[in-house]
Amino acid sequence: RPAPDLLDLTALETRARELLAPDVADFFAGGAESETTLREAPAAWRSWRLRPRVLRGEPAPSLGTSLLGSEVATPVGVAPWAYQTMAHADGERGTAEGAAAAGALMTVSTSASTELAELTAVAPDAPKFFQLYRVHSPAHTEDVARRAGAAGYRALVLTVDMPVFGRRLRDLVSGFALPADLPLANRPAAGHPAAPTPAWAFDDIGRFADLSGLPVVVKGVLRGDDAARCVQAGAAAVWVSNHGGRQADPAVATAHALPEVVDAVGDEVEVYVDGGIRSGSDVLTALALGARAVFVGRPAVWGLATGGRQGVTRVLSGLTAELAHTMALCGVDDVTAVPRDTIAAAR
Ligand code: FNR
Repeated sequence: RPAPDLLDLTALETRARELLAPDVADFFAGGAESETTLREAPAAWRSWRLRPRVLRGEPAPSLGTSLLGSEVATPVGVAPWAYQTMAHADGERGTAEGAAAAGALMTVSTSASTELAELTAVAPDAPKFFQLYRVHSPAHTEDVARRAGAAGYRALVLTVDMPVFGRRLRDLVSGFALPADLPLANRPAAGHPAAPTPAWAFDDIGRFADLSGLPVVVKGVLRGDDAARCVQAGAAAVWVSNHGGRQADPAVATAHALPEVVDAVGDEVEVYVDGGIRSGSDVLTALALGARAVFVGRPAVWGLATGGRQGVTRVLSGLTAELAHTMALCGVDDVTAVPRDTIAAAR
């Protein structure tokens, strides 16, 4: 089994910067405040070390898994990210096609530039989650949740780490503003009254599950006690995330928060994680720590920006090939059963 082709995410980001306006590239790349969380995220995964098992003889590990009952060919999925037509003309459609070609799950953002039902129609057999923000009136948010259920999404992802918008200094300095012609497909129709949006509470987890008819995933959890309350309130899965360093800063790295959340709820529900995952060994580390799946944000941004839907496939397939290679090197044969002692803290 040959080593996988080189997936050079740094070179992809550099190339994307050549193609995008500087303020747009900074909007995608940037984090909040001092960007400490953003900077530390990849390094935190690398604070773990692999402990390869030898003489196991399994050169072709099994990569398929299921996420809330939906089959996928890889545990690497696409995190929700906003305004994809700003990165490439293929937009969210390109990401949906690219993820489907890699056998990966895509999470579609509320802030998509493509309407939510159009995206379940792209590669309809490829499972997708829909991510919900409460950015407009409660009535509009509830309507979007119902439509996500009707459109065939497999889960509703409530992003709870944005009670207020993070202070993204790059955007403040550049004066970044969304292009006037950018479609915001899931916004209320013109004339819809702007209403204040009360923060979500634990009760909303069950309420949105009922409204949408979908299992609810709570995204943006960094603490075991919060994860336990989410599960008590009816969450079907918990997604450990600090929003890619774009909200609270300096927030704990997800590579360090994940074990606490897995200890609290890992026996009851699926646990996902994102933030700074940039290689197959990062993925294997997350799986060993108890994550069922990982999601990538910026690698998908740079893939779409540089190569449209094929660029997304290359990134997801590249990370998956690296994962398979690292598993073979470590004597691990199944992504659904990665022993915790496959890794140890670096000393
Ligand atoms: C995001 N993220 C995000 N999350 C969410 O729930 N809804 C959204 O609309 C967005 N939008 C968004 C835009 C951009 C440009 C980025 C970079 C991120 C957060 C995203 O889902 C995820 O948590 C992080 O991107 C994961 O970190 P990495 O992989 O980018 O390091």
